[in-house]
Amino acid sequence: MENKSFLFGTAVGGYNFIGREAEIKRLMANFTEGINTILISPRRIGKTSLVKKVKQLLESHEDVIVVYLDMFACKTEYEFYNALSAAVLKQTASHAEKWMEYAKDFIVRLTPKISFSPEANSDFSISLGITAKTHTPEQILGLVEEIARKRSKRIVVCIDEFQQIGELPDSLTVQKRLRSVWQHQQLTSYCLFGSKKHLMSNIFQRRNMPFYQFGDMIFLDKIPTEQWVDYIVEHFQDRKRDISRELAQQLCEIVENYSSYVQQLAWLLFSLLNEGETATMGKLNHAVNDLLNANEALFMQQIEPLSAYQLNFLRAIADGHNRGFGEMEIREEYNLGSPSNITRLKSSLIKKDLIEMQVKGTLNITDPVFKLWIQRRIS
Ligand SMILES: Nc1ncnc2c1ncn2[C@@H]1O[C@H](COP(=O)(O)OP(=O)(O)OP(=O)(O)O)[C@@H](O)[C@H]1O
Ligand SMILES: [Mg+2]
Repeated sequence: MENKSFLFGTAVGGYNFIGREAEIKRLMANFTEGINTILISPRRIGKTSLVKKVKQLLESHEDVIVVYLDMFACKTEYEFYNALSAAVLKQTASHAEKWMEYAKDFIVRLTPKISFSPEANSDFSISLGITAKTHTPEQILGLVEEIARKRSKRIVVCIDEFQQIGELPDSLTVQKRLRSVWQHQQLTSYCLFGSKKHLMSNIFQRRNMPFYQFGDMIFLDKIPTEQWVDYIVEHFQDRKRDISRELAQQLCEIVENYSSYVQQLAWLLFSLLNEGETATMGKLNHAVNDLLNANEALFMQQIEPLSAYQLNFLRAIADGHNRGFGEMEIREEYNLGSPSNITRLKSSLIKKDLIEMQVKGTLNITDPVFKLWIQRRIS
């Protein structure tokens, strides 16, 4: 069998992709109608998988082209422009080989002095050589709309890890530029998505920021337990292993339905079983231990830069205290310092995305396995 039974750590599709029916429908509607979309969730919930799924579903659509680009590695405004132009040129060309032609056409027309490097291949983005001297931001940002017009199609540009925009030098100016060009484009729309909730919120939810109210804002939720249980049970069965629905449900609870961890824990449990064997609670506990071990190095890295107070605060939250930190007892038990120290601890850990404020004003550790690790191994 070619399919992997469980898959994590990379965007998933096909046999490894479940659910998201409502979100797919909404994105399809936004993409085909040209509505800008903002997609936010904690890490590894499934943003990239979802957008790639929709891109794939729209592949055969006559009037829409979806372009996908990851801006994680873009550290400056022009690195972003190079990546953007390369993605647009490559992915809007009607045939794979045609992108060169398009590129030549546009690059030459935009800046007659530039000759296109013939050895450009997969390093296309670098060889585009777009700099502030060769192109104005407006020329580059206008490229996609020109292609859309030329091809009489709508283009949706999906930008992954968009929170990175907030990290660019002179970020606010860049954001203003993008917004002012993008909002006037008729045939091009954007799907901007990323993790690091607090960074994304800074960009999209502040009144005085350029991207405030830019489009349809979607907070991607966890996949419901029922769907996960179906997925786990079926995938075990496909490989002649058994797991009860109850145990599959417990597995989901342990990792609080976190997409990536559900798949990873299911995989670890699966890998403990021989053909024909049925999963047990004992094996699940074993797998949870393996999961903690597998993530330990990463978690160590996360706590390394923390102060003793910050770590104490995490321990308190992991132990289930999620409010009332002003109270003397909790502060003393966990050695949290003064009430004003609590305020600082809270905002610094939210900034690091280690904890999040929930709707009811309570605090939670963002990553459920990190939480479990602190409970079991840090105290
Ligand atoms: N629809 C889905 N069906 C099954 N598993 C999924 C789904 N979406 C996500 N996953 C699981 O979660 C993992 C992470 O998915 P993905 O990379 O799409 O998330 P992300 O939100 O883009 O993560 P990041 O914040 O790291 O960019 C996948 O490898 C897979 O294990
Ligand atoms: Mg992603």
